[in-house]
Amino acid sequence: MPLPIRRTILAAVAAAACAAVIIPAQAAKPLTIGFSQVGAESEWRTANTASIKAAAKQAGVNLKFADAQQQQQNQVKAIRSFIAQRVDVIAFSPVVETGWETVLREAKNAKIPVILTDRSVKVSDPSLYVSFIGSDFVEEGRRAGRWLLDYAKKNPNKALNIVELQGTVGSAPATDRKTGFAEVIAGNPKLKIIRSQTGDFTRAKGKEVMEAFLKSEGKNINVLFAHNDDMAIGAIQAIEEAGLKPGKDIVIVSIDGVRGAFEAMMQGKLNVTVECNPLLGPTLVQTAQSVVAGKPVPKRITVDEGVFPAEAAAKEFPNRKY
Ligand code: AHR
Repeated sequence: MPLPIRRTILAAVAAAACAAVIIPAQAAKPLTIGFSQVGAESEWRTANTASIKAAAKQAGVNLKFADAQQQQQNQVKAIRSFIAQRVDVIAFSPVVETGWETVLREAKNAKIPVILTDRSVKVSDPSLYVSFIGSDFVEEGRRAGRWLLDYAKKNPNKALNIVELQGTVGSAPATDRKTGFAEVIAGNPKLKIIRSQTGDFTRAKGKEVMEAFLKSEGKNINVLFAHNDDMAIGAIQAIEEAGLKPGKDIVIVSIDGVRGAFEAMMQGKLNVTVECNPLLGPTLVQTAQSVVAGKPVPKRITVDEGVFPAEAAAKEFPNRKY
């Protein structure tokens, strides 16, 4: 090769090497997750929100958080806004199970993966979301029912008329917990649900509906099955105001395992709580990172949960994280 050409090539190689050194390394773009939360209706929900925010912060994720105040239309609006902002992943805990096809298709067409947390949806096309992270609500209802079956066995002479405080109408936990509980108590004809109404997963509504139950049924009520601890805590107030002893005159079975329920159990006012784990933040962040990295993720990720009767409350209380 003639010398001038060789010099030119060497100069070009040296310039390229210098350029490679001088150009600053581009910082990796942080992952952006748009998250639509149900609301702030319960102690459980507060813990769930805190878990998601903390996990995002720890992983350096840019979290766009929207509170739907228990309204499906607010969630649809939030999801559309996340699509318009071109977030990397959309996650949400659906207020109710149905009515999601259109907006989920819009997300799919925009090539934005959707992860469901806590509550699932009913859709004809399962490819509209990539993964569900949460609890087995039917099993939670069964666990509540099994505890009551056992109680009935130990107390064969007691009447066991049940009133039920349901969660939000059309939500997965309300439908599934009712199904699981009914399936199990069907094994004992003495266990009868005499009244059942929604308390929308809140303390205020739980109290209001329990007051109405007490007014119409009075001392006919032996058991309360509440679909969450907050409604049970509201109902406890109503029972006390009616001059009865919660946990004794009326046996109370509820779901979630929040600290408030443990406090009520330690005071002898609640008989058992079936755990529903709200600490889904770290799994959500990991799943979103895997999805964006093109790694396969399980379609359904469920969490391990226990059952805590009042006798175990004092020992377990110091270990509770929510
Ligand atoms: O979806 C989970 C349920 O929603 C929890 O049991 C309840 O407390 C919350 O509001």
